[in-house]
Amino acid sequence: MKIANHKLKILIVGSGGREHALGWKLSQSPLVDRIFFAPGNAGTSTVGENVAIGVNEIGRLAEFAEKQQVDLTMVGPELPLTLGIVDEFNKKNLAIVGPTKKASRIESSKIFAKKLMKKYRIPTAEFAAFDDKKSALAYIGKSRFPVVVKADGLYAGKGVAVCSNFAQAKSFVEKLTGKIVVEECLVGPEVSFMVATDGVNFQSFLPSQDHKRLNDNDQGPNTGGMGAYAPVPIASQKLIGRIEKEIVAPIIKAMKKEGCLYQGILYPGLILTKDGPKVLEFNCRFGDPETQPLMTMLKSDLLPILLSIVKGTADKQKIIFKPGASVCVVLAAPGYPGKYAKNLPINGLNDYKDVAVFHAGTGFKDKKILAMGGRVLGITSYGRSIKEAIKKAYGVIGRKGVWFRGMVYRQDIAHKAIKNL
Ligand code: AMP
Ligand code: GLY
Repeated sequence: MKIANHKLKILIVGSGGREHALGWKLSQSPLVDRIFFAPGNAGTSTVGENVAIGVNEIGRLAEFAEKQQVDLTMVGPELPLTLGIVDEFNKKNLAIVGPTKKASRIESSKIFAKKLMKKYRIPTAEFAAFDDKKSALAYIGKSRFPVVVKADGLYAGKGVAVCSNFAQAKSFVEKLTGKIVVEECLVGPEVSFMVATDGVNFQSFLPSQDHKRLNDNDQGPNTGGMGAYAPVPIASQKLIGRIEKEIVAPIIKAMKKEGCLYQGILYPGLILTKDGPKVLEFNCRFGDPETQPLMTMLKSDLLPILLSIVKGTADKQKIIFKPGASVCVVLAAPGYPGKYAKNLPINGLNDYKDVAVFHAGTGFKDKKILAMGGRVLGITSYGRSIKEAIKKAYGVIGRKGVWFRGMVYRQDIAHKAIKNL
Protein backbone atom coordinates (compact mmCIF):
# COMPACT_ATOMS: atom_id res chain seq x y z
CA MET A 1 0.00 0.00 0.00
CA LYS A 2 1.39 3.42 -1.00
CA ILE A 3 1.11 6.20 1.56
CA ALA A 4 1.71 9.81 0.60
CA ASN A 5 4.59 11.87 1.99
CA HIS A 6 2.53 14.96 2.78
CA LYS A 7 0.63 15.46 6.05
CA LEU A 8 -2.14 12.88 6.15
CA LYS A 9 -5.91 12.99 6.05
CA ILE A 10 -7.37 10.42 8.42
CA LEU A 11 -10.83 8.87 8.62
CA ILE A 12 -11.87 7.27 11.91
CA VAL A 13 -14.89 4.99 11.71
CA GLY A 14 -17.02 4.88 14.86
CA SER A 15 -18.68 7.08 17.46
CA GLY A 16 -17.53 5.94 20.88
CA GLY A 17 -15.06 6.95 23.55
CA ARG A 18 -12.50 4.75 21.80
CA GLU A 19 -12.76 6.74 18.59
CA HIS A 20 -12.66 10.08 20.41
CA ALA A 21 -9.50 8.96 22.24
CA LEU A 22 -7.86 7.73 19.01
CA GLY A 23 -8.70 11.01 17.27
CA TRP A 24 -7.53 13.09 20.25
CA LYS A 25 -4.19 11.30 20.15
CA LEU A 26 -3.86 11.54 16.34
CA SER A 27 -4.72 15.24 16.47
CA GLN A 28 -1.46 15.76 18.41
CA SER A 29 0.62 14.22 15.61
CA PRO A 30 2.70 16.62 13.50
CA LEU A 31 2.13 14.16 10.63
CA VAL A 32 -1.65 14.60 10.60
CA ASP A 33 -3.45 17.22 8.53
CA ARG A 34 -7.18 16.56 8.95
CA ILE A 35 -9.32 14.02 10.83
CA PHE A 36 -12.80 12.91 9.82
CA PHE A 37 -15.08 10.85 12.04
CA ALA A 38 -17.92 8.75 10.66
CA PRO A 39 -20.27 9.33 12.31
CA GLY A 40 -18.49 10.62 15.46
CA ASN A 41 -20.13 12.35 18.42
CA ALA A 42 -20.20 15.82 19.99
CA GLY A 43 -16.69 15.37 21.39
CA THR A 44 -15.07 14.20 18.16
CA SER A 45 -16.29 17.35 16.43
CA THR A 46 -13.83 19.30 18.62
CA VAL A 47 -10.80 17.39 17.28
CA GLY A 48 -11.99 16.81 13.71
CA GLU A 49 -14.97 16.89 11.37
CA ASN A 50 -17.97 14.61 11.75
CA VAL A 51 -19.40 13.01 8.63
CA ALA A 52 -22.95 11.62 8.67
CA ILE A 53 -22.20 8.09 7.49
CA GLY A 54 -23.00 5.08 9.68
CA VAL A 55 -20.33 2.53 10.60
CA ASN A 56 -22.05 -0.23 8.61
CA GLU A 57 -22.38 1.79 5.37
CA ILE A 58 -19.12 0.48 4.01
CA GLY A 59 -19.80 1.43 0.38
CA ARG A 60 -20.45 5.03 1.34
CA LEU A 61 -17.40 5.11 3.62
CA ALA A 62 -15.14 3.95 0.78
CA GLU A 63 -16.69 6.52 -1.59
CA PHE A 64 -16.09 9.24 0.98
CA ALA A 65 -12.46 8.19 1.51
CA GLU A 66 -11.88 8.17 -2.23
CA LYS A 67 -13.54 11.52 -2.86
CA GLN A 68 -11.81 13.28 0.05
CA GLN A 69 -8.48 11.61 -0.74
CA VAL A 70 -8.24 10.18 2.76
CA ASP A 71 -4.74 8.75 3.24
CA LEU A 72 -5.52 6.33 6.06
CA THR A 73 -8.71 4.95 7.60
CA MET A 74 -8.83 3.55 11.12
CA VAL A 75 -11.77 1.35 12.05
CA GLY A 76 -12.96 1.43 15.68
CA PRO A 77 -15.77 -1.11 16.13
CA GLU A 78 -16.00 -4.75 15.02
CA LEU A 79 -19.21 -4.48 12.99
CA PRO A 80 -17.78 -2.84 9.84
CA LEU A 81 -14.76 -5.16 10.00
CA THR A 82 -16.96 -8.24 10.06
CA LEU A 83 -19.01 -6.76 7.20
CA GLY A 84 -15.86 -6.51 5.08
CA ILE A 85 -14.94 -2.81 5.17
CA VAL A 86 -11.25 -3.67 4.78
CA ASP A 87 -11.91 -5.84 1.70
CA GLU A 88 -13.96 -2.99 0.20
CA PHE A 89 -11.18 -0.42 0.81
CA ASN A 90 -8.50 -2.83 -0.46
CA LYS A 91 -10.42 -3.23 -3.72
CA LYS A 92 -10.19 0.53 -4.20
CA ASN A 93 -6.55 0.61 -3.13
CA LEU A 94 -7.39 2.76 -0.08
CA ALA A 95 -5.18 2.32 3.00
CA ILE A 96 -7.11 1.06 6.02
CA VAL A 97 -6.17 -0.35 9.43
CA GLY A 98 -8.03 -3.53 10.36
CA PRO A 99 -8.42 -7.20 9.49
CA THR A 100 -10.32 -8.48 6.44
CA LYS A 101 -13.76 -10.04 6.80
CA LYS A 102 -12.17 -13.48 6.75
CA ALA A 103 -9.60 -12.60 9.44
CA SER A 104 -12.14 -10.78 11.62
CA ARG A 105 -13.89 -14.13 12.14
CA ILE A 106 -11.51 -14.42 15.08
CA GLU A 107 -14.07 -12.19 16.84
CA SER A 108 -17.25 -12.83 14.84
CA SER A 109 -17.18 -16.60 15.29
CA LYS A 110 -16.30 -18.00 18.69
CA ILE A 111 -16.23 -21.50 17.17
CA PHE A 112 -13.67 -20.41 14.57
CA ALA A 113 -11.51 -18.87 17.32
CA LYS A 114 -11.84 -21.85 19.68
CA LYS A 115 -11.01 -24.40 16.98
CA LEU A 116 -7.99 -22.39 15.92
CA MET A 117 -6.73 -22.15 19.51
CA LYS A 118 -7.22 -25.87 19.98
CA LYS A 119 -5.38 -26.73 16.77
CA TYR A 120 -2.42 -24.49 17.62
CA ARG A 121 -2.40 -25.29 21.37
CA ILE A 122 -3.08 -21.73 22.50
CA PRO A 123 -4.25 -21.79 26.14
CA THR A 124 -8.01 -21.31 26.47
CA ALA A 125 -10.99 -22.88 28.29
CA GLU A 126 -12.08 -26.41 27.28
CA PHE A 127 -15.13 -26.18 25.05
CA ALA A 128 -17.75 -27.96 22.97
CA ALA A 129 -19.60 -26.48 19.97
CA PHE A 130 -23.21 -27.19 18.96
CA ASP A 131 -25.35 -26.48 15.91
CA ASP A 132 -28.60 -26.26 17.86
CA LYS A 133 -30.10 -25.62 21.29
CA LYS A 134 -31.22 -29.19 21.85
CA SER A 135 -27.78 -30.74 21.58
CA ALA A 136 -26.24 -27.89 23.61
CA LEU A 137 -28.74 -28.46 26.41
CA ALA A 138 -28.21 -32.23 26.36
CA TYR A 139 -24.48 -31.59 26.87
CA ILE A 140 -25.04 -28.96 29.57
CA GLY A 141 -27.32 -31.43 31.38
CA LYS A 142 -24.32 -33.71 31.83
CA SER A 143 -21.83 -30.94 32.73
CA ARG A 144 -20.47 -29.81 36.05
CA PHE A 145 -21.54 -26.27 36.99
CA PRO A 146 -20.77 -23.47 36.63
CA VAL A 147 -20.56 -23.59 32.82
CA VAL A 148 -20.15 -20.70 30.42
CA VAL A 149 -22.61 -20.52 27.53
CA LYS A 150 -21.80 -18.38 24.49
CA ALA A 151 -23.48 -17.50 21.23
CA ASP A 152 -21.15 -18.24 18.32
CA GLY A 153 -21.73 -14.91 16.57
CA LEU A 154 -21.57 -11.23 17.53
CA TYR A 155 -24.16 -10.45 20.15
CA ALA A 156 -23.45 -6.85 21.20
CA GLY A 157 -21.80 -8.01 24.43
CA LYS A 158 -24.89 -9.98 25.50
CA GLY A 159 -23.93 -13.36 24.07
CA VAL A 160 -22.16 -14.79 27.14
CA ALA A 161 -23.55 -16.11 30.42
CA VAL A 162 -21.82 -17.80 33.33
CA CYS A 163 -24.47 -20.26 34.52
CA SER A 164 -24.43 -21.85 37.97
CA ASN A 165 -27.25 -24.35 37.31
CA PHE A 166 -29.21 -26.01 34.52
CA ALA A 167 -32.27 -23.76 34.79
CA GLN A 168 -30.11 -20.67 34.27
CA ALA A 169 -28.33 -22.22 31.32
CA LYS A 170 -31.62 -23.33 29.77
CA SER A 171 -33.24 -19.90 29.98
CA PHE A 172 -30.12 -18.31 28.42
CA VAL A 173 -29.85 -20.90 25.64
CA GLU A 174 -33.54 -20.34 24.77
CA LYS A 175 -32.77 -16.68 24.01
CA LEU A 176 -29.90 -17.40 21.61
CA THR A 177 -29.99 -17.89 17.86
CA GLY A 178 -27.37 -19.71 15.78
CA LYS A 179 -24.62 -22.02 16.95
CA ILE A 180 -23.67 -22.31 20.62
CA VAL A 181 -20.41 -22.82 22.51
CA VAL A 182 -20.27 -24.29 26.00
CA GLU A 183 -17.08 -23.68 27.96
CA GLU A 184 -15.40 -24.66 31.17
CA CYS A 185 -15.60 -21.79 33.67
CA LEU A 186 -12.18 -20.30 34.41
CA VAL A 187 -11.31 -18.28 37.50
CA GLY A 188 -8.92 -15.37 37.85
CA PRO A 189 -8.44 -11.67 37.18
CA GLU A 190 -9.06 -10.50 33.59
CA VAL A 191 -6.63 -8.47 31.50
CA SER A 192 -7.12 -6.73 28.14
CA PHE A 193 -4.03 -7.13 25.98
CA MET A 194 -3.82 -5.29 22.65
CA VAL A 195 -1.20 -5.50 19.95
CA ALA A 196 -0.61 -3.80 16.61
CA THR A 197 0.28 -6.41 14.00
CA ASP A 198 1.12 -6.40 10.30
CA GLY A 199 0.33 -10.10 10.04
CA VAL A 200 3.82 -11.31 10.91
CA ASN A 201 5.32 -9.04 13.56
CA PHE A 202 3.62 -7.21 16.38
CA GLN A 203 4.12 -4.58 19.07
CA SER A 204 2.22 -4.66 22.35
CA PHE A 205 0.29 -1.91 24.07
CA LEU A 206 0.23 -1.71 27.87
CA PRO A 207 -1.97 -4.29 29.55
CA SER A 208 -5.19 -2.71 30.78
CA GLN A 209 -8.18 -3.82 32.77
CA ASP A 210 -11.85 -3.30 32.01
CA HIS A 211 -14.74 -3.30 34.51
CA LYS A 212 -17.54 -5.16 32.74
CA ARG A 213 -20.19 -5.26 35.47
CA LEU A 214 -22.48 -2.31 36.09
CA ASN A 215 -22.03 -2.00 39.86
CA ASP A 216 -19.20 -1.74 42.38
CA ASN A 217 -17.40 -4.93 43.43
CA ASP A 218 -18.21 -6.48 40.03
CA GLN A 219 -21.91 -6.88 40.79
CA GLY A 220 -24.93 -6.42 38.53
CA PRO A 221 -25.37 -7.00 34.81
CA ASN A 222 -22.63 -7.05 32.18
CA THR A 223 -22.06 -3.86 30.21
CA GLY A 224 -19.81 -2.71 27.39
CA GLY A 225 -17.37 -1.64 30.15
CA MET A 226 -17.83 0.85 33.00
CA GLY A 227 -14.22 1.92 33.31
CA ALA A 228 -10.64 0.88 32.73
CA TYR A 229 -7.10 1.58 33.80
CA ALA A 230 -3.56 1.00 32.63
CA PRO A 231 -1.02 -0.30 33.39
CA VAL A 232 -2.11 -3.37 35.38
CA PRO A 233 0.20 -4.05 38.38
CA ILE A 234 -0.39 -7.84 38.31
CA ALA A 235 0.72 -7.95 34.66
CA SER A 236 4.48 -8.01 35.28
CA GLN A 237 7.07 -7.80 32.50
CA LYS A 238 7.54 -11.53 32.92
CA LEU A 239 3.84 -12.19 32.46
CA ILE A 240 3.69 -9.89 29.43
CA GLY A 241 6.54 -11.90 27.90
CA ARG A 242 4.62 -15.09 28.53
CA ILE A 243 1.43 -13.69 26.96
CA GLU A 244 3.38 -12.60 23.88
CA LYS A 245 5.14 -15.94 23.56
CA GLU A 246 2.30 -18.33 24.39
CA ILE A 247 -0.67 -16.45 22.95
CA VAL A 248 0.05 -13.49 20.66
CA ALA A 249 2.91 -14.82 18.52
CA PRO A 250 1.29 -18.25 17.96
CA ILE A 251 -2.14 -16.86 17.02
CA ILE A 252 -0.67 -14.41 14.49
CA LYS A 253 1.35 -17.26 12.97
CA ALA A 254 -1.71 -19.54 12.99
CA MET A 255 -3.86 -16.96 11.21
CA LYS A 256 -1.25 -16.59 8.48
CA LYS A 257 -0.90 -20.33 8.10
CA GLU A 258 -4.68 -20.72 7.78
CA GLY A 259 -4.76 -18.18 4.96
CA CYS A 260 -6.28 -15.42 7.15
CA LEU A 261 -3.34 -12.98 7.39
CA TYR A 262 -4.28 -10.76 10.34
CA GLN A 263 -3.37 -7.09 10.01
CA GLY A 264 -4.73 -4.57 12.49
CA ILE A 265 -5.26 -4.35 16.21
CA LEU A 266 -5.64 -7.74 17.87
CA TYR A 267 -7.04 -7.82 21.38
CA PRO A 268 -7.11 -11.07 23.28
CA GLY A 269 -9.28 -10.85 26.39
CA LEU A 270 -7.31 -12.86 28.95
CA ILE A 271 -7.95 -14.49 32.28
CA LEU A 272 -4.97 -15.09 34.57
CA THR A 273 -5.62 -18.56 35.99
CA LYS A 274 -3.39 -20.44 38.40
CA ASP A 275 -2.22 -22.43 35.36
CA GLY A 276 -1.20 -19.25 33.54
CA PRO A 277 -2.86 -16.77 31.16
CA LYS A 278 -5.69 -18.15 29.01
CA VAL A 279 -7.76 -16.61 26.24
CA LEU A 280 -11.43 -15.83 26.95
CA GLU A 281 -12.01 -14.33 23.51
CA PHE A 282 -10.30 -12.50 20.69
CA ASN A 283 -11.42 -9.07 19.56
CA CYS A 284 -10.44 -7.75 16.14
CA ARG A 285 -10.11 -4.09 17.26
CA PHE A 286 -9.19 -1.77 20.11
CA GLY A 287 -11.19 -2.20 23.34
CA ASP A 288 -13.55 0.41 24.66
CA PRO A 289 -13.12 1.89 27.29
CA GLU A 290 -9.56 0.48 27.55
CA THR A 291 -8.35 2.58 24.61
CA GLN A 292 -9.06 5.76 26.58
CA PRO A 293 -6.37 5.08 29.23
CA LEU A 294 -4.11 3.54 26.58
CA MET A 295 -4.10 6.70 24.44
CA THR A 296 -3.55 8.78 27.58
CA MET A 297 -0.50 6.68 28.48
CA LEU A 298 0.91 6.54 24.94
CA LYS A 299 4.05 8.62 24.56
CA SER A 300 4.77 7.63 20.94
CA ASP A 301 2.97 9.25 18.04
CA LEU A 302 0.04 6.96 17.15
CA LEU A 303 0.20 7.58 13.41
CA PRO A 304 3.49 5.73 12.69
CA ILE A 305 2.17 2.78 14.71
CA LEU A 306 -0.96 2.60 12.53
CA LEU A 307 1.11 3.05 9.38
CA SER A 308 3.43 0.20 10.38
CA ILE A 309 0.42 -2.14 10.34
CA VAL A 310 -0.43 -1.41 6.70
CA LYS A 311 3.19 -1.07 5.57
CA GLY A 312 4.31 -4.35 7.12
CA THR A 313 6.93 -2.71 9.35
CA ALA A 314 5.56 -3.56 12.80
CA ASP A 315 8.92 -5.15 13.67
CA LYS A 316 10.60 -1.74 13.55
CA GLN A 317 7.90 0.37 15.22
CA LYS A 318 8.42 0.51 18.99
CA ILE A 319 5.50 1.66 21.13
CA ILE A 320 6.61 3.80 24.06
CA PHE A 321 4.43 4.62 27.06
CA LYS A 322 4.71 7.29 29.72
CA PRO A 323 5.47 6.35 33.31
CA GLY A 324 2.54 6.68 35.71
CA ALA A 325 -1.04 5.51 35.26
CA SER A 326 -4.35 6.40 33.68
CA VAL A 327 -7.89 5.75 34.90
CA CYS A 328 -11.11 6.05 32.90
CA VAL A 329 -14.45 6.26 34.69
CA VAL A 330 -17.46 5.83 32.40
CA LEU A 331 -20.53 7.97 33.04
CA ALA A 332 -23.53 6.12 31.61
CA ALA A 333 -27.12 7.20 31.00
CA PRO A 334 -29.75 6.46 33.65
CA GLY A 335 -31.15 2.99 32.92
CA TYR A 336 -28.03 1.69 31.14
CA PRO A 337 -27.44 -1.12 30.13
CA GLY A 338 -31.22 -1.46 29.79
CA LYS A 339 -33.58 1.12 28.30
CA TYR A 340 -32.08 4.52 28.97
CA ALA A 341 -33.08 8.17 29.17
CA LYS A 342 -32.07 10.45 26.28
CA ASN A 343 -31.45 14.13 25.57
CA LEU A 344 -30.09 15.11 28.98
CA PRO A 345 -28.07 18.33 29.23
CA ILE A 346 -24.49 17.84 30.46
CA ASN A 347 -22.82 20.28 32.85
CA GLY A 348 -19.16 20.99 33.33
CA LEU A 349 -17.72 20.04 29.93
CA ASN A 350 -14.67 22.21 30.52
CA ASP A 351 -10.93 21.69 30.17
CA TYR A 352 -9.47 19.98 33.22
CA LYS A 353 -5.83 19.60 34.13
CA ASP A 354 -4.62 16.02 33.57
CA VAL A 355 -8.15 14.83 32.76
CA ALA A 356 -9.61 14.29 29.29
CA VAL A 357 -13.35 14.01 28.88
CA PHE A 358 -13.87 11.53 26.03
CA HIS A 359 -17.34 11.45 24.54
CA ALA A 360 -19.35 8.39 23.54
CA GLY A 361 -23.16 8.79 23.57
CA THR A 362 -23.29 12.55 23.09
CA GLY A 363 -24.77 14.72 20.38
CA PHE A 364 -25.79 18.27 19.57
CA LYS A 365 -29.26 19.74 19.75
CA ASP A 366 -29.59 23.48 19.11
CA LYS A 367 -25.82 23.78 19.60
CA LYS A 368 -26.09 22.28 23.12
CA ILE A 369 -24.29 19.03 23.96
CA LEU A 370 -26.70 16.39 25.24
CA ALA A 371 -26.32 12.89 26.67
CA MET A 372 -27.97 10.63 24.08
CA GLY A 373 -27.77 7.39 26.03
CA GLY A 374 -25.62 4.33 26.56
CA ARG A 375 -22.14 5.07 27.77
CA VAL A 376 -22.05 8.86 27.60
CA LEU A 377 -18.57 10.01 28.70
CA GLY A 378 -15.23 8.54 29.72
CA ILE A 379 -13.52 10.70 32.35
CA THR A 380 -9.90 9.76 31.76
CA SER A 381 -7.09 10.97 33.97
CA TYR A 382 -3.33 10.82 33.96
CA GLY A 383 -1.39 10.60 37.23
CA ARG A 384 2.08 9.72 38.46
CA SER A 385 0.58 6.73 40.26
CA ILE A 386 -2.63 4.75 40.01
CA LYS A 387 -3.80 6.34 43.29
CA GLU A 388 -3.23 9.82 41.92
CA ALA A 389 -4.97 8.93 38.66
CA ILE A 390 -8.03 7.63 40.55
CA LYS A 391 -8.16 10.81 42.62
CA LYS A 392 -7.91 13.03 39.55
CA ALA A 393 -10.62 11.20 37.59
CA TYR A 394 -13.13 11.16 40.45
CA GLY A 395 -12.14 14.73 41.33
CA VAL A 396 -13.92 16.10 38.26
CA ILE A 397 -17.05 13.93 38.51
CA GLY A 398 -20.10 15.41 40.23
CA ARG A 399 -21.94 18.68 40.71
CA LYS A 400 -18.71 20.68 40.88
CA GLY A 401 -17.42 19.07 37.69
CA VAL A 402 -18.93 16.92 34.97
CA TRP A 403 -22.50 16.01 35.72
CA PHE A 404 -25.83 15.06 34.13
CA ARG A 405 -29.13 14.04 35.67
CA GLY A 406 -29.29 10.41 36.82
CA MET A 407 -25.80 9.53 35.55
CA VAL A 408 -24.65 6.04 36.47
CA TYR A 409 -21.02 5.23 37.30
CA ARG A 410 -18.89 2.98 39.44
CA GLN A 411 -17.09 4.33 42.49
CA ASP A 412 -14.40 1.64 42.51
CA ILE A 413 -12.67 1.84 39.13
CA ALA A 414 -9.03 0.72 39.44
CA HIS A 415 -9.37 -0.16 43.15
CA LYS A 416 -8.21 -3.67 42.27
CA ALA A 417 -4.97 -2.18 41.04
CA ILE A 418 -4.27 -0.61 44.44
CA LYS A 419 -4.92 -3.91 46.19
CA ASN A 420 -2.33 -5.50 43.94
CA LEU A 421 0.40 -2.87 44.24
P1 AMP B 1 -16.33 -12.91 26.22
O1 AMP B 1 -17.22 -11.99 25.44
O2 AMP B 1 -16.16 -14.24 25.62
O3 AMP B 1 -15.03 -12.26 26.66
O4 AMP B 1 -17.06 -13.08 27.60
C1 AMP B 1 -17.50 -11.99 28.36
C2 AMP B 1 -17.14 -12.19 29.80
O5 AMP B 1 -17.66 -13.43 30.26
C3 AMP B 1 -15.65 -12.28 30.06
O6 AMP B 1 -15.07 -11.03 30.19
C4 AMP B 1 -15.62 -13.07 31.35
O7 AMP B 1 -15.89 -12.25 32.44
C5 AMP B 1 -16.75 -14.04 31.17
N1 AMP B 1 -16.26 -15.32 30.59
C6 AMP B 1 -16.19 -15.66 29.29
N2 AMP B 1 -15.69 -16.89 29.13
C7 AMP B 1 -15.41 -17.36 30.35
C8 AMP B 1 -14.87 -18.59 30.86
N3 AMP B 1 -14.53 -19.60 30.05
N4 AMP B 1 -14.73 -18.69 32.19
C9 AMP B 1 -15.09 -17.69 33.03
N5 AMP B 1 -15.61 -16.52 32.62
C10 AMP B 1 -15.78 -16.34 31.29
N1 GLY C 1 -14.17 -3.36 26.82
C1 GLY C 1 -14.37 -4.60 26.18
C2 GLY C 1 -14.34 -4.55 24.72
O1 GLY C 1 -14.00 -3.55 24.10
O2 GLY C 1 -14.67 -5.56 24.11
